[in-house]
Formats: sequence, C-alpha cells, structure tokens
Amino acid sequence: MRVIERCDEMQKLARSWHKEGLSLGFVPTMGALHEGHLSLVREARRHHDRVVVSIFVNPLQFGPKEDYTRYPRTFEQDKSLLEKENVDVLFYPSVEELYPQGFQTYVVVEKLPEPLCGRSRPGHFRGVTTVVTKLFHIVMPHEAYFGKKDYQQYRIIERMVMDLNMDIRITPMPIVREPDGLAMSSRNRYLSPEERQKARILFRALELAKECIQKGERESSVLTEKLKSFIVNEVPEARIDYVAFVDALTLEDVSRLRGHVLLALAVFLGNTRLIDNCEFFLEE
Ligand code: PAJ
Repeated sequence: MRVIERCDEMQKLARSWHKEGLSLGFVPTMGALHEGHLSLVREARRHHDRVVVSIFVNPLQFGPKEDYTRYPRTFEQDKSLLEKENVDVLFYPSVEELYPQGFQTYVVVEKLPEPLCGRSRPGHFRGVTTVVTKLFHIVMPHEAYFGKKDYQQYRIIERMVMDLNMDIRITPMPIVREPDGLAMSSRNRYLSPEERQKARILFRALELAKECIQKGERESSVLTEKLKSFIVNEVPEARIDYVAFVDALTLEDVSRLRGHVLLALAVFLGNTRLIDNCEFFLEE
C-alpha cells in the first residue's frame, strides 16, 4: 500500500489509472478506523481494480466548541488495518496541503443540511461538502462509498453529486453495529465504561419504534413523545438533541408515517454526541 500525502501526486496516479482503463473505488474517512469503515473498504475492494482510502480530520467540519483537537488520531493502526484489506493507496494529506493559505472556496448544498444534525452543528455540512468535493477532484473515483450511519451526510453528498454533475456513483452502505446494537463510531472511544453501557439507549429506542410501528402506530408526534420519554426514563442523564421522523429523501418532517421514512436520533451522553437512525418502508 502506498501512502500519498500530496494532492498533485494523488491526481497524477489517478490519471494514470484512468488512462489504463482501471476502475477506481474511494472511501473518504477521518481515520480512527473500525469495522464500519472497513465494511465500506471491503465493498470498494470487491468492485474495483484500484481502491483509495483517505484519512483527513477536516477542521472545516468541526464547530469552534467541538472536538477537532481531541478527535482520535490512530494513524499507524489505521494504516495496518488498510494494508490487511489490500487497499492500493492511503491518501493522507495535511491540513496545509488541503487548505493552503488563501483558501476561500466552499461548496454549499442549500436545504438538506438545515434539519437534524445541521441544526445543532451550523457549518458542519458546508465543511463536509467542501472537503468531499476536493477529495473527489483529487482522487477522481468512479464510485465512492458512504455509511448510512451518517444518513444526512449521505443524502447531502448524493444531492451535491447530482446537482454539480459529478460523474461519480455514490453508494450507501448499511450501519455496522457492536454486538449489543450500538452503531460503531470513532467517537465511541470517548465514552467512559458507564456511558458505554448507557449508549445502548439509542439502539433500544430504535427497537421500541420498530415495535410500535409494527403494531400500527403511524402518528409521528405520538411516536416521538414515546421515544423521548423512554430515553429520559431509562437514562436520565441523557440529553436529547433530536428525535425526528423525516422523509428519507427530503429529510423534511413527516406528521404521518408513510412511504420511505427515516427515524433519526441524536443524544448526548456527557460531552459525547451520538447519532443513530433507522429506515422504514411503509405501505400505509
Ligand atoms: P468518518 O466519520 O470517519 O466516516 C467515514 C465513513 O464511514 C462515512 O461514510 C461514515 O458514514 C462511515 N461509517 C462510520 N461509521 C459507520 C458504521 N457504524 N457503519 C457504516 N458506516 C460507517 O464521515 C466522515 O468521516 C467525514 O464526514 C468525511 C465524509 C470523511 C468528510 O470529512
């Protein structure tokens, strides 16, 4: 596996692969890799001649009070995990390499970033769409893989690629979970052992929602209230950021559940913000 730190070098290599007629799969990450990331890498490896994974903790997508400086950085471990997956290139640029002095161009998707995580993390998705656009131009993949763990991010990237005619297939991948149901996340490392126990509450809330919906409940307000009180009753120290039923394509609130609906949750445990979600396909 080659480690490339420079944009021009990465672009040159990608261009040569294109010339050879090789297909290129790409997985952008911020590192601190776990099985969730690796599931994307394996899918890319199955479908493409060449696989590039990027590791870049993107300062642009962190708010001033967020965890940019303490975000886990485990480069050596990540590198050996990617070597085992037969990745061809690990693209590992520095902040100065990606955002040199004078940088002032941003990519903004207008509406999809407004609800859910966008509400409590202003500027976050602007940082994501800007860095992903840059990475797409540098790596020039045919296909890029995104986890549904970050469902809103996936929908925003999908929209951006359509709106800007980027010739890249965006493939969503299912959420990979710990044995007890907790969605894998680099941020789970922040949890104390007690918080880790309590973190199951997100998955348990999704399970409760499935049960209620299976029994026929379709009113979003009824379900939302039920889930909120379940969470605070079971884990009183949990701080709910949002519990929302939204249209899975537009991410707009729905009052009655029908068609393709997303239930999305964001909950703070201590200083750690955890997210999870579940899709429903409902006839009526
Ligand atoms: P990061 O949080 O490192 O995630 C990289 C990719 O892995 C994302 O597509 C994310 O949805 C996916 N992923 C994370 N946990 C997962 C899980 N448990 N199951 C399935 N997929 C999972 O998302 C980012 O980085 C950044 O915003 C990035 C797109 C790299 C732009 O900076």
